[in-house]
Amino acid sequence: MTIKENHLYIGSFKASDLAKRYGTPVIIYDEEEIKKQIEAFIKYFKSNKYQTHIVYASKAYLSPYICQLIDDYQMEIDVVSLGDLYLVESSGFPLSKVLFHGNNKSLAELEYAVSHKVGILVVDNYDELMTIMELAEKYQTVVNTMFRINPGIEASTHEYIQTSLLSSKFGESIFDEETIDKVMKLYEKNHLVHLLGFHAHIGSQIVSEKPFIASAKTLIEFTKKIQDQYNYKLSAVNLGGGFGIKYLDSDEECDLSHTLPKMIESIDELINEYELSISDIYIEPGRSIVGKAGFTLYQAGIIKRTYGGKNFLFVDGGMTDNIRPALYQAKYTVKIVDKMEDEPILKVDVVGKCCESGDIVSKDVMIPMVSKGDYVGVFVTGAYGYAMASNYNGALKPPVIFVSNDKIKVVSRKESVKDLMKLY
Ligand SMILES: Cc1ncc(COP(=O)(O)O)c(C=O)c1O
Repeated sequence: MTIKENHLYIGSFKASDLAKRYGTPVIIYDEEEIKKQIEAFIKYFKSNKYQTHIVYASKAYLSPYICQLIDDYQMEIDVVSLGDLYLVESSGFPLSKVLFHGNNKSLAELEYAVSHKVGILVVDNYDELMTIMELAEKYQTVVNTMFRINPGIEASTHEYIQTSLLSSKFGESIFDEETIDKVMKLYEKNHLVHLLGFHAHIGSQIVSEKPFIASAKTLIEFTKKIQDQYNYKLSAVNLGGGFGIKYLDSDEECDLSHTLPKMIESIDELINEYELSISDIYIEPGRSIVGKAGFTLYQAGIIKRTYGGKNFLFVDGGMTDNIRPALYQAKYTVKIVDKMEDEPILKVDVVGKCCESGDIVSKDVMIPMVSKGDYVGVFVTGAYGYAMASNYNGALKPPVIFVSNDKIKVVSRKESVKDLMKLY
């Protein structure tokens, strides 16, 4: 993105021209930024001792087009539902390169995954493992799994995106020896369902290497302990995602060129120290691949100054295309895209059009003089925005376009009012 004569440009397109062409709200991805992030992961998460796997966590943003992009880089994808599996498969992405997550996968989802030979099932609990074993027997097929553990590491981030506290709903705690023992006894006896290794995802928006290294240490120590105790050879470790990005100028972000080599260095040392023959290390970045590349354009309605003295700038979207502010008080950088260099003079809450006071785009934003009809740009909306979009209050999902220098691809069209009647 660049600024020329007070206007914001995405690739070679003026943002406000894109708004006029595609309507608002519109979600725009800068494809070059996605590629830059992917290439950074590939460059810095590399070892000559084991195979590194960068698995795109598609919950951040999923479409057939992103699947093709991920496939171009020969990466893997992680998904969390039958719907995800179906979309990924329909895009032509090989299910053999898919990791299937979820803390409460249904029988139908597991059956689909087993019968369609999904690459790796990440098992959440004992009960799920039993079901997978029954399905492996039914289809007489080998199923590769990882087992999700909870290492009890606190990532200092919002409680809704912490996933590894002792009271978290995901996986089984490494301290719950009885459950782990039951799980391992199932694996020991079963010749169709293989345990490749353990998985942990400790949370999101992590900006320093320390929690990742702490998680790697716990996972590798645990791998050693289980391998010795059950004489079960484990070949993989999966450290999950969570690499933090900058939403506001004041935010810190995870420096991939520093964090990833530090992680590799520690993993190398730990594997050496414990004399493990680990052949595969996985990470699952989502937000850090698509977050910064995404940008949402709205059109301004009025500025309302309330009797209580608060200023609201109304825009024509909101929690229906980005629920993060309502869900976890997320904040964003907001600019008037044709007044990029104008002096900010007014503090406003930028809010949407839903019948909810929590329908906020960003709070306490300084903006220049704005007129009804101006285009309002919200930066860094590429992760967990469109992915969580809804039809609340009859909102239509916005179109998603990818810009790559001077090329535009409409990845998904704008929803129509007729689409809203599809289910009835
Ligand atoms: C298991 C797992 N892996 C990866 C991710 C991706 O996290 P992020 O988008 O913060 O990289 C998540 C996010 O919730 C997750 O639950």
